[in-house]
Amino acid sequence: MQAQARRWRGAGTRIGFVPTMGGLHDGHLSLVRRARRAVGRSGRVVVSLFVNPTQFGPGEDFTKYPRNLRRDSELCRAAGVDILFAPAAAQMYPPVQALSTWISEDALSQSLEGRSRPSHFRGVTTVVAKLFNIVLPDVAVFGAKDWQQAAIVRRMVRDLNFPVRIIVAPTRREPDGLAMSSRNQYLTGDLRRQAAVLIRTLELTRQRVNASPKPVDSELLKRELRRFVERQPDARVDYVEFFHPETLAPVARATRGTHMALAVFIGKTRLIDNGRL
Ligand code: PAJ
Repeated sequence: MQAQARRWRGAGTRIGFVPTMGGLHDGHLSLVRRARRAVGRSGRVVVSLFVNPTQFGPGEDFTKYPRNLRRDSELCRAAGVDILFAPAAAQMYPPVQALSTWISEDALSQSLEGRSRPSHFRGVTTVVAKLFNIVLPDVAVFGAKDWQQAAIVRRMVRDLNFPVRIIVAPTRREPDGLAMSSRNQYLTGDLRRQAAVLIRTLELTRQRVNASPKPVDSELLKRELRRFVERQPDARVDYVEFFHPETLAPVARATRGTHMALAVFIGKTRLIDNGRL
């Protein structure tokens, strides 16, 4: 992959890159379209598919994460992807115990997902840095669905001078508003119906905050929203947070323009969503 990328770059061909863990859906494919738009018809679009072991915590869904290389490669072909780079874990990492160089972002990674999944972002930044060094992209596209991840990657690129432009593309949703996710495949029957509570919570909060003449106390809102979400029989809130969209610093009072993120277990499946109020 790296040899090919160097040939392309040597010939002045622009490289657009979309890192994924597979289980592709239209959210991923919208990033592919965005990458194509960024590099043009003469550019090349690379998708990576790698279920990255270092970003899963103990007891998380690494072993059952959806894997369907044939389907994913057909979707990539149909979407005009030039290379689907799908390395084996043994090619990407020495035995994990022996990996001794990590990239970690130490400020933005502490809150939200980082609080619930302590070594998650270290795994993400390390694999994204490795992938950037292998794919040598001019442009890489990330989804707003994983808002904190995109902010952390941006920070890493800035702090470590990666010559890569980061684009963040909007969240694609199912008809009922559920954010598309590879993990939605775990949701069957009534759980799938209950999962729409995440977007309904975002919408309710938007209405509540925009209708209020003054900023709304975040702690009060969190308590209300927790109750609202947990009216669903199988829903349990992991967190609801209000924060500044770029610094991710928590805000004590939510107002128009504040960013909100939530993580909710629907049965055993952990879902996240976020949006601007
Ligand atoms: P994965 O969850 O497969 O997501 C790959 C990319 O697709 C991420 O940038 C994510 O934000 C984006 N994405 C997911 N759902 C989306 C949706 N509904 N709308 C728009 N974009 C969406 O995120 C990862 O993989 C990994 O952490 C990775 C960056 C590949 C590192 O291993």
